[in-house]
Amino acid sequence: HRYCVIMCGGVGSRFWPYSRANKPKQFIDFFGTGTSLLQMSYDRVLPVVPKENIIVVTSHMYAEHVKEQLPDITPEQILLEPARRNTAPCIAWAAYHIYSRDPLASIIVASSDHLITRDSLFVESIENGFNFVETHDALLTLGIKPTRPETGYGYIQIGKAEGTANGILPVKTFTEKPDKDLAKVFLESGEFYWNSGIFLWSAKSIINAFHTHMPDISALFETLPLSEYSNPDKENAFINSNFASCPSISIDYAVMEQASNVYVECVKFGWSDLGTWTSLYDNSQKNPDGNVTRNGRVIAYNATGNIFAINPEKLVVATGLNDYVIADSDDVLLICPRSEEQQIRHYVNDVKMAY
Ligand code: GDD
Ligand code: MG
Repeated sequence: HRYCVIMCGGVGSRFWPYSRANKPKQFIDFFGTGTSLLQMSYDRVLPVVPKENIIVVTSHMYAEHVKEQLPDITPEQILLEPARRNTAPCIAWAAYHIYSRDPLASIIVASSDHLITRDSLFVESIENGFNFVETHDALLTLGIKPTRPETGYGYIQIGKAEGTANGILPVKTFTEKPDKDLAKVFLESGEFYWNSGIFLWSAKSIINAFHTHMPDISALFETLPLSEYSNPDKENAFINSNFASCPSISIDYAVMEQASNVYVECVKFGWSDLGTWTSLYDNSQKNPDGNVTRNGRVIAYNATGNIFAINPEKLVVATGLNDYVIADSDDVLLICPRSEEQQIRHYVNDVKMAY
């Protein structure tokens, strides 16, 4: 009864122009190992979830990337969204899809933009989490000990340890993407964990949570009788005409901040959200001069802390340049101080024609 939902429909706009609307970061071989972030996400759950129970939810535009990168899964395991509506509708659809086939299902929801190390600890944590949500009406998130006042994550405040087993604690508050001042307060208090964006719950519990906190979304999905979710033609016809009417909202705002049955399992495996250039810099091998080069060749003088993500044929010569992102694609060259990297998604909006 164990399932995995891999959310794989984001655009990765802070990695622009390396990550593009037609091939976002999850499909890119980021570390030059021959494996994309999506493939890493899939391989990671294989020891815990039977491969026929792994569902990938993505945009209709990325169907070919998913089929090519995950040749072992069937077309029925790929849910194609006709419009981008953020993670709450993505999770809701997958929940109804799975629940119609298996009312006793429990689900791990995973992102496709994480770098995880110490995989054996990951497997242990997931087994532990599954055991918990199979016996409790709980929305469980895996929590990571924070190391900086990052504003791009959700923050989880832990409650009392009483009455819980296996390192799983009730959550007092959940705050998605706080501002810098609040993030600093959270970090200094020592009571908060980062939300890893990896969730576990039973199909029933998450559907109940949508009923309570996002009734518009559950009402919409329930206009299709449950039995028809297992008929791909009917399911897809329904989704193609109705999915776009879902509100665009992330699961964190829609459910996790609202629900009272949220729990956290504090985990010890290595975790990094590859959300920004600095996260890539931190997780990449540096040249002796402290620069990171993806593809291409770089000759740098008096330059450190930079990331060069450039065309393989190109030679870049840089001097007197520190802590910059220089990212090159066929038609766009971005030059941006790393300290401004959160702004990149806004630049992309300004360059809509190129996107
Ligand atoms: N199918 C689908 N459809 N997937 C989506 C969509 C969508 O519309 N939007 C985003 N995703 C996928 C992304 O590809 C990514 O794998 C995952 O869902 C999470 O989306 P992000 O956009 O990367 O979220 P975030 O990083 O800003 O925030 C979330 O993750 C953080 C940790 O990585 C939140 O859960 C935070 O609370 C959390 O700390
Ligand atoms: Mg992310």
